[in-house]
Amino acid sequence: MADHPGPSLERGTSVSCPRGPDGGIPRATMQTVCMASQLSPAVAANGLTKSYGPLEAVRGISFAIAPSECYGFLGRNGAGKTTTMKMIYCRIARTSGTLDVLGLDAAVSAREIKSRIGVVTQENALDQELTVMENLLVYGSFFGLRQAEAEKRARSLLAMMSLTGKERAKYKELSGGMRRRLVIARALVNEPELLVLDEPTTGLDPQARLMVWETLNGLRDRGLTLIITTHYMEEAARLCDRIAVMEEGRIFAEDTPAGLVQRFAAAEVLEVIAEPAHADALAQTEAFDGLVRRRERHGDVTYLYTDDNRALLARMAQAGLDSRRHVARVATLEDVFLNITGRGLGE
Ligand SMILES: Nc1ncnc2c1ncn2[C@@H]1O[C@H](COP(=O)(O)OP(=O)(O)OP(=O)(O)O)[C@@H](O)[C@H]1O
Ligand SMILES: [Mg+2]
Repeated sequence: MADHPGPSLERGTSVSCPRGPDGGIPRATMQTVCMASQLSPAVAANGLTKSYGPLEAVRGISFAIAPSECYGFLGRNGAGKTTTMKMIYCRIARTSGTLDVLGLDAAVSAREIKSRIGVVTQENALDQELTVMENLLVYGSFFGLRQAEAEKRARSLLAMMSLTGKERAKYKELSGGMRRRLVIARALVNEPELLVLDEPTTGLDPQARLMVWETLNGLRDRGLTLIITTHYMEEAARLCDRIAVMEEGRIFAEDTPAGLVQRFAAAEVLEVIAEPAHADALAQTEAFDGLVRRRERHGDVTYLYTDDNRALLARMAQAGLDSRRHVARVATLEDVFLNITGRGLGE
């Protein structure tokens, strides 16, 4: 079989994180500049925990997010992402540890923090009886915005989220994707310095998702700090400067998307589909002259992580190992995620 991109690649996960055509400062550079200039972090947590009764949902996590950075939390269902986000946007109190948001202690200054941040919650928390415009205006009034100003901002945000023409529609008349876009628009009404987004694009169609990515990239290039959770690895790769992978309430790994791929995958992966006996042969490390950096086996697929698929295929042919049924592709954040969190469901 000739080399071709596998299905994971078609889903588009990429670690090259292409920038928008706006000529903005590359993100890694921006982050380095922020760190080097010793700006205080937008969010800093130390030994942060949250327990719900006997359940420890967050078990002592520490991180610092630079201003203008896009920081992502990845992890399986129940890993503690939303709980962490809720502590950041002051919806719930921490159990122990420290948490500063925009330089303020979340336990002391929740009110001020809330006035300076925008929040897209995992569940759309909008008023079902109100129209699209009313939802934005009522929200604006919470921040003391005058009607005319709120309306001006609302119209521009609706245009940004491609919802112009829906002003009078009742929330319950909107499609799922439109609701999600409205929640994002609403989170921006108070012109926040920090935007917290819990699975912002879940339920969006591909066009709407692209539009949201473009919007978020544009906002970040203008200086907004973004904190995001997502189950879409392509989204994380495209948007995030750094990612924390959470596992059972802890941060298992934190790095740039490219750094994570380097550490937990490799540049490329050869997926070899093989019978068990043949798969056992693939497990013999000495056959590959150090070309394989990591190996995973799931069912009849053996994943060989390497920096050079072509060289690996040549080596396999030399060693008499059958590689006729294979998919050769670049490694992605999806590989990182699956290598860290496992490929099966549940424990
Ligand atoms: N209000 C609550 N009361 C009790 N337990 C809770 C509460 N909220 C969350 N949990 C538990 O805390 C753990 C972490 O939940 P959390 O919502 O933070 O996960 P998550 O990483 O956001 O998952 P998902 O990807 O499914 O959104 C889970 O075991 C969950 O059942
Ligand atoms: Mg969640």
